Amino acid sequence: MRVLVIGSGAREHALLLALRNDPKVDHLVIAPGNAGTTAVAEQRDVDITSGPAVTALAREVGADLVVIGPEVPLVLGVADAVRAAGIACFGPSKDAARIEGSKAFAKDVMAAAGVRTARSEIVDSPADLDAALSRFGPDAGEAAWVVKDDGLAAGKGVVVTPDRAAARAHAAGLLEAGHPVLLESFLDGPELSLFCIVDGDTVVPLLPAQDFKRVGDGDTGPNTGGMGAYAPLPWLSREAAAGIVTDVVAPVAAELVRRGSRFAGLLYAGLAMTSSGPAVVEFNCRFGDPETQAVLALLESPLGQLLHAAATGGLDKFGALRWRDGAAVTVVLAAENYPGRPRVGDVIVGAEGDQVLHAGTTHRDDGAVVSCGGRVLSVVGTGDDLTAARAAAYRTIGSIRLPGSHFRTDIGLAAAENKIRI
Ligand code: GLY
Repeated sequence: MRVLVIGSGAREHALLLALRNDPKVDHLVIAPGNAGTTAVAEQRDVDITSGPAVTALAREVGADLVVIGPEVPLVLGVADAVRAAGIACFGPSKDAARIEGSKAFAKDVMAAAGVRTARSEIVDSPADLDAALSRFGPDAGEAAWVVKDDGLAAGKGVVVTPDRAAARAHAAGLLEAGHPVLLESFLDGPELSLFCIVDGDTVVPLLPAQDFKRVGDGDTGPNTGGMGAYAPLPWLSREAAAGIVTDVVAPVAAELVRRGSRFAGLLYAGLAMTSSGPAVVEFNCRFGDPETQAVLALLESPLGQLLHAAATGGLDKFGALRWRDGAAVTVVLAAENYPGRPRVGDVIVGAEGDQVLHAGTTHRDDGAVVSCGGRVLSVVGTGDDLTAARAAAYRTIGSIRLPGSHFRTDIGLAAAENKIRI
C-alpha cells in the first residue's frame, strides 16, 4: 500500500513512524513534511488547502490511501476532493468537519445527541460583551471565564482566567480582529482526550490521553497548541473510558449520520471529568497534537490497514486493537518566546532518531537542521510505567540543543505520582 500523508507537524511524523511499522505499507510520501520526516518518507510540496492540488499529488505518487493530518484542509473539503477522484482518504468530509470548524454546529449536534457540554454564548458585537461576561465566570459563581476564538485557532485562541479584565481584553481583541467570541462555562475536573476512529456508526477508540495546554509547569502561563501528553491514563478506569464511547462519542457519531453529515475519520473528544460525569470541552475532526505522539507509540495494530479500513467501509470488520503494555510520554520542545512570536532560524543539535519527532524544523541550504516554528520538536519516551516513560522522554530532550528553547518539566508527573482524582 502506498500512503500519502498531508501535513508538517510532529503528529504527521508520528503517523509516518506508525505507518512504517505496518507490513502492508510499502511506500510513504509526505507533503509538505519537515526536516525530520525526510528520513522516513518521500518528501513532496503541496498547497495543503487545495483539493485539486492534493488530489493531483495523490495521483502522481500512486497513493492507495491519503491521510490528512491538520484540520484546515478537512474543514475546506480537501478529503471530499480526494475521494471524488476515487482515491481512499482518511479524513472527514467538509460537512462532517464542521464538528471542529463551527462551534455552533458542534453545540447543536451535542444538544441533539444528549451529550453534556459547557453552557455557551457567541458574542459578535463589542456592545454585547460586558453583559455576556456577567453571565459567566466568577460573576456567575464559576471558577473562571473561558473565552475562545469561535474559529480555528490551534488552541491558542483560548484564555481561561478568573480575572474579568483579562477575559474582557482577550474577547475585545478577538472582536476587534473580526473574530466572533465564544464564552463558555468553566468545567471542573481533569481533562482528557479520547481519539476514536469512526466510520458512520462504527466507533473504535484509541487509548485515552491527557495533554498539557499551558506553557508553564504547574499549568501556568498562556495556552499553547499543547506542550506535552501521556497515555494511557492510570486514573481513568477501562469502564469509564468505555462509558465515554457509549455516552458521548457514539451518540454524536450517530447524530451526524442522522442529519446527513456522516463522519469518517478521526473524531477527537476533548472532555473534562467533572464531579457530575464527563462533559465535552470540544470535538475535533483529526488526530490531536501532541497526544497522537504518545498514543501511537503504544499501538501494535497495523495503522495503515486500520486507516484504510475506516476510509473504505471496512472498520466494523477490523477487530479489536492491540496495544503495547506500559506508558508513553511526549514532551514538546518549543522555540524562545512561544506561544508568542517564536524565534526561528536557530541550528538544532541532537534531533535524530525515532524518539525525536519534528514539527517546526527545516533544512538550511548548508544542510543544517534549523527551527522554523513555535513547537519545534516532540520527544517521545516509553516505558513499563509513566515514571519510566517520563525518564526516557526527559533523558532524550536533555540531550538536544536549541538556543532559547523551553519545555515543561511536569508532563505526566501528577499522574505518575497518583495525584489525579476524578
Ligand atoms: N491537543 C490539542 C489539539 O490537538 O487540538
